[in-house]
This record gives sequence, C-alpha cells and structure tokens, in this order.
Amino acid sequence: MSDDKILFKISNLKQHFPLKTKGLTVKAVNGVDVQIFRGETLGLVGESGCGKSTFGRVLLQLYRQTDGKTLYYGQSLESLAPAYVKETLVNLSKYKQRLADLQKDYQDSAALHEQLKEDDSQSVQAVYEALNASQEAEKRYRNAYLDIVQLIGGFIIVEDPSQITPLLLDAFQQSSEQHRLQGLLSALQLEVEEVQRSIRHAQKGNRSTGTKERRLSQLQEKIRGISATQERVAQDLAKANRLLDDARKEWSGNEEFETHERLRDNGIDLSRLTFSEIRVLRKDMQLIFQDPYSSLNPRMTVGQIIGEGLLAHRFFKRDGEEMQAYVMGVMEECGLAPYMIHRYPHQFSGGQRQRIGIARSLALKPQFVVCDEAVSALDVSIQAQIINLLRDLKEKSNLTYLFISHDLAVVKYISDRIGVMYLGNFVELAPARMIFTDTLHPYTEALLAAIPTTDRTDQGKMILLEGDIPSPIKPPEGCKFHTRCRYKTEICTHVVPLWRELEAGHFVACHHPLTRSKDVPDAVPTQD
Ligand SMILES: Nc1ncnc2c1ncn2[C@@H]1O[C@H](COP(=O)(O)OP(=O)(O)OP(=O)(O)O)[C@@H](O)[C@H]1O
Ligand code: SF4
Ligand SMILES: [Mg+2]
Repeated sequence: MSDDKILFKISNLKQHFPLKTKGLTVKAVNGVDVQIFRGETLGLVGESGCGKSTFGRVLLQLYRQTDGKTLYYGQSLESLAPAYVKETLVNLSKYKQRLADLQKDYQDSAALHEQLKEDDSQSVQAVYEALNASQEAEKRYRNAYLDIVQLIGGFIIVEDPSQITPLLLDAFQQSSEQHRLQGLLSALQLEVEEVQRSIRHAQKGNRSTGTKERRLSQLQEKIRGISATQERVAQDLAKANRLLDDARKEWSGNEEFETHERLRDNGIDLSRLTFSEIRVLRKDMQLIFQDPYSSLNPRMTVGQIIGEGLLAHRFFKRDGEEMQAYVMGVMEECGLAPYMIHRYPHQFSGGQRQRIGIARSLALKPQFVVCDEAVSALDVSIQAQIINLLRDLKEKSNLTYLFISHDLAVVKYISDRIGVMYLGNFVELAPARMIFTDTLHPYTEALLAAIPTTDRTDQGKMILLEGDIPSPIKPPEGCKFHTRCRYKTEICTHVVPLWRELEAGHFVACHHPLTRSKDVPDAVPTQD
C-alpha cells in the first residue's frame, strides 16, 4: 500500500491511566501497531474494557499518548509547520546522543538475553523476562530513530550535520510560509467576493456604496502586498531546495544514505504537537458518540449546535444567512428537514438526535471519524438507517471511519477491515471477511463462537470464552490471553507474542495461530 493511501501510521501506541495508588496504572492501550488507510472503515471489536474507546480517543488526541508514535497524513507537515520540526533540527546532536543511548540499551538487553539463554543455571522465567525487555528496548530505540530519520532522511549518517540542518530548516520554513500566505490569500479572496456581492446588492437598492468600496480597495491592496511577498518567498524556497538537492547529490550512490533517505516521511507526529497545534487539527478528526442525548446541549437549537463548531473553527465569521444556508445543507444531507433548524434536541426522536450528532461532526468536513458505539443505543430498524447514512456520507466525502461496536454483525456489515482487541492490544487484524473465514487468533475464534447463530448444532462453541477478563492494571505476563486460551503452551505464559503479518494484510499476535478454515457464522445483515 503506497504512503499516499495511508491516513495514520501507529506504532507501539500506549495509553496508561495513572491510578490514585502510587505507581499503578490502567494499561488501557498497551502497544498497538496499525495503519489506517484513507477512505476505509476499520471496525474494532473486543469485550468491554479492552480499550476500544481509549484507542479511538487517543487517536483523536483527546488524551496525550503515554508512548509510541502516531503519524497523521491528513495534512502536510509544511502546512501545519509544528514546532517540533524546528526543535529537532536545531537540537539534532542532543537527539542523536539520545538515540545512541537507546541503541546501547537495546544492544545490551539483546546481549543479556543471548547470554542468559546459553546459561543453564538460569530459570526459564529469567530468560523470558530478558527477551521481553529486549523487545521493548528495540521498540523504544526504533521510535526514537524514526523521530530523526523521518525529518532528515539520509543525512542521519552524516557525522556532523551542522552544515545540513540550516538548509533543511530553511527549506521547511520557506515552504511553511508559502502555505501560510496561500491561506491568507484564499481568506482575503473570499472576503473580496463577499464585499463585491454586497456592493451589487446596495447598487440594486440605490443605497450608497462608499464604505464598501473603500473596504474593497483596502482588501485589494492587501492582496497585492501578500502576493508580492509570496513571490519573494517562492524564490527563497526554490533556492533552499536547490541547495538541499545539491547536498543530496553529493551522497547519491551511497547505499546507506539512500536506504535512510527512503525513510523520510511527511507524516505529522501527533504525539509531538503542542495543544494549539492539535487544536488546528481537531476539525479534521471527529467523534460520534453512543449517546446522542447527553452530548447535545438541551438549551441550544439544532442550528446553534451545528453552528458552534463552524464558528469556533472559523468556517464562518458570524452566524448569518450564509452559515444558516450551509447548516441547512448539512442537515439535509444527514436526513433532517432544514425547517427543523430552530428546534431543540428534546423535540427529536433518538434516531434524529443521532443524525444531529452526525451533522455536527460532518459539518466541519473532517477526514477521520471515530464512531464509538454510534448505533448501539438505537432500535434495530433505526440502527440500519443510521448505518446506511454513515456509509453514504463516507462514500460522498471519502471519509475514514474507525467503527467501534460490540455488535459483530454490525461491524461485519460496515467494515472493510476488522481489528480485534484484547486487554489493550490488537490481537488480530484482517479484511472483514477473513476475520470470519480465516480466523487466526484463539480469542477471535472465541468471540465469533459467542455470536448467536441460527445453527443450533453450534451451541457447543458458546463455552469457548471462559473466565473473567484479567485486570488491565496487572495484565498476565506473556500472552495476555493465556489465562483463558485453550491452546496455550509453556511459551505463552512467558513471552509476549509478536505482532506479525502472517498472510498479506492478515496480522496476528499469537504463538500458535489457528489455521483450520472456519464456517462463516450467520451474521445478521443490517439493512432496511
Ligand atoms: N479516563 C480513564 N481513567 C482511568 N481508566 C480509564 C479511563 N478511561 C478508560 N479507562 C480504563 O481503561 C480500560 C479500557 O477502557 P475503554 O473505555 O477504552 O474500553 P472499551 O473497550 O471501550 O469498553 P466498552 O466496550 O465497555 O465501551 C478500562 O479498564 C477502563 O476502566
Ligand atoms: S499466544 Fe498462546 S495463549 Fe496466546 S492466544 Fe496464542 S495460543 Fe493462546
Ligand atoms: Mg467503549
């Protein structure tokens, strides 16, 4: 899958919540590696408390992630121009030192594991602990390495990069300035059109246009000024790029340089953004809740509820005719009659309220929407309508969904791929159908067996998922599912299974993945 199809690249993502008791944390999300593709619906299933909502929320940056890397490709790095880029380039030697320290940690812990493995006097437990520690150290090193190589590519191999970083910084800043000026120009252009419209309006009504004409020439003057600056910046940018190209040419043919150069990556590292930078991205990423009742302010009309975000994100300057027309358009798209714009939430049915919640999110033209049990509180027939609405809206705007639901039939119906979570980790991920037909993980098998089927001879399967979910405060060692898994062996109780792509697009974390082919369970199609 090429990078331009990717919206998120997530590696070793962790979200731990501290508890009041010192030193204890709830490991709600505990090392997730996954990519989310543009335009897909990624379904997410797993028992209550396994971390589905937390995963969705941490992607939306409603929490600051505890560890790991979340790269976002919905906007270019240059247009957002986050401070960490400059900070990393300026302090490159410090970052490289830290990388060297982490590399040493990793090498030491890998060596320790090798050493213990050869030493017969060591307990199995000690050997396995060393292996787990070495795998963790490798992940930490790898993320720190990507922090740097992502920004400077092949130049990471240059011993003293003090000649190169000013060039990289200059090219980045000129390019960001270019984006900023373009944004200003577009906004001014819109304003010019608005003033021109109101001048024509005034002329028709034989009213004076003096003030408006003056405003118009002020705006045009501004546009000329910015355009001139933009030309200068374009020249500076071209020069900066030329210098960088020359520096790269000097290294061309060097295999090590080229290998690192391929890791250059234009993704925005969400975990390194400041709060104000996150705020800029917030409109891109929306959340649709389970409970439309509690998330709608009862004292605001639908128009105000949908308009609130539009004003906050400066889609419109004020709540005027234009904004109302826009809100009505979105309402209509979401199956709400535009005349309802002045009504209050209590005057709607449950399904309609969910439509208001959807309209509020989609009005901001997001790229990514987390639907967290978005239909779970609705009657089955209404559920189907809302799911179909979400599908239509997705097609129209090429949205990407993370669709969380405890209802496997619903997830199967709407998803392109399905991820299965257990105690803070993904345990399996595959194209939706394959999760059912080529199940690889014992936990997935157990979850599927728990779906009520029409085939009564299947009843025996229901007993597969025995026992309680262990506590996410102190999850079991090794494979976290081993306390409930009927296929577990010695290694499962000690060693964390690696997340592997066993077949193309089919990932699993299990020492003994299943291979038997499965019957497709009777998922109830959710259609009207
Ligand atoms: N803000 C928080 N502070 C502390 N612990 C939290 C917080 N949010 C979630 N948790 C804990 O993290 C774990 C994962 O919770 P999460 O809500 O993500 O699960 P879920 O898979 O969405 O469950 P459900 O299907 O019930 O919605 C749970 O043990 C939960 O108690
Ligand atoms: S790793 Fe072992 S315990 Fe875990 S799911 Fe696989 S077989 Fe079961
Ligand atoms: Mg939840």
